[in-house]
Amino acid sequence: MNKLMIQGGTRLDGEIRISGAKNAVLPILAGTLLADGPAIVENVPHLHDVTTTVELLGCMGVQVIIDEKLSIEVDVSTIENYVAPYHLVKTMRSSILVLGPLLARFGQAEVSLPGGCAIGSRPVNLHIKGLQDMGADIEVKNGYIHARCKRLRGARLVLDMVTVTGTENLMMAATLADGVTIIENAAREPEVVDLANFLIAMGAKIIGAGSDTITIEGVEKLRGTRYRVLPDRIETGTYLLAAAITGGRVKLKDTTPSLLDSVLDKLRDAGAHLQTGPDWIELDMKGCRPKSVNVRTAPYPAFPTDMQAQFAALNTIADGTATIIETVFENRFMHVQELQRMGADIEVEGNTAIIRGTDKLTAAPVMATDLRASASLILAGLVAEGETEVQRIYHIDRGYEIIEEKLSLLGANIRRIPA
Ligand code: EPU
Repeated sequence: MNKLMIQGGTRLDGEIRISGAKNAVLPILAGTLLADGPAIVENVPHLHDVTTTVELLGCMGVQVIIDEKLSIEVDVSTIENYVAPYHLVKTMRSSILVLGPLLARFGQAEVSLPGGCAIGSRPVNLHIKGLQDMGADIEVKNGYIHARCKRLRGARLVLDMVTVTGTENLMMAATLADGVTIIENAAREPEVVDLANFLIAMGAKIIGAGSDTITIEGVEKLRGTRYRVLPDRIETGTYLLAAAITGGRVKLKDTTPSLLDSVLDKLRDAGAHLQTGPDWIELDMKGCRPKSVNVRTAPYPAFPTDMQAQFAALNTIADGTATIIETVFENRFMHVQELQRMGADIEVEGNTAIIRGTDKLTAAPVMATDLRASASLILAGLVAEGETEVQRIYHIDRGYEIIEEKLSLLGANIRRIPA
């Protein structure tokens, strides 16, 4: 198991390219199951979760060709079974995204129940209920969701909570259903819109993606297509914070600033100077210590839960006291205890963390517990006095492409070593 060693104290300065979005490429790869003909997905980041998805498709007999130029071609014509096995689903919850496409296209699916995870219980009841409302016969037994249908039928689905992968699963299922499906209280995340655009490129009839009501008119067949995945807004935000926490400067290319409004607003409040172009963002802290910023997470377009841990790290060394409220997941403060071991002054009560900024953090061995928590520990390591050792970094490899290389390009003193 590898670990990262970070010598803190360097002010970051430089330019890097942002990769394709993890949370868009995963549903899009699942969506290729709907295509009657090869689908080519471009701008695919090299991430462990992508490898797991490729393995999942491979397990079903689907042919997947990976090109070194960041593209993946999927040909479903060789599919042999419709099973997402426990050993893959337990390592990657988003495997649940094959449920809707398999059911809609092949009339059957067996998908392991994901179970809980480090950031909360994360049930999939809304995925199941929506599919049942579309006529699927679903039984949960022996830890698996067993689903069957003749052809799904269009329905009006009112989601009790805003769920990103739930919206994606139901939208994919509805593309091949008989009749019109309306998803109300749909997630508005840019990754939902990217998936909708991919499905539309395959011939799906979808309107309203990006709003809270999505209407899908089912079609008989979808065709293969070529599609470029949108840039990763959370990776973008994480590198902006890496520059901000060190008082440095960064220019991020191949990104989409308009997807980060709430994050950029918070960075301005923290004292960052920001400039944006159509596909780039430049942040300059001009050597200043950040000011504390309050954060309250909520579904898009509000502040993303996937940036909460990174802002917690920023606030540990900021000037002032900040309140962070996590409303999306019930247990997403696992980074707090590790940050405290580096000298952070944080109190947690329920879903609220109160962070009093200190002058400095000190290096310590710390353990990554989930993807974004790992990112926050790396950010803390960049400013801590001494050498921070971040263990269990397989979490970071799930969602950040070559993070130590990108940070090194910005001048960080970071290296990966075998544990
Ligand atoms: N929920 C239910 N029932 C459901 C589905 C969701 O109660 O059937 C609850 C969840 O327990 C949670 C809330 O609804 O409290 C929102 O969860 P959501 O379903 O939106 O999360 P997700 O789809 O499982 C995606 C991202 C996460 C991101 C969240 C929130 C992917 C592959 N994952 O998860 O990304 O945090 O949306 O924006 O898109 C990450 O990248 O680090 C990550 C965890």
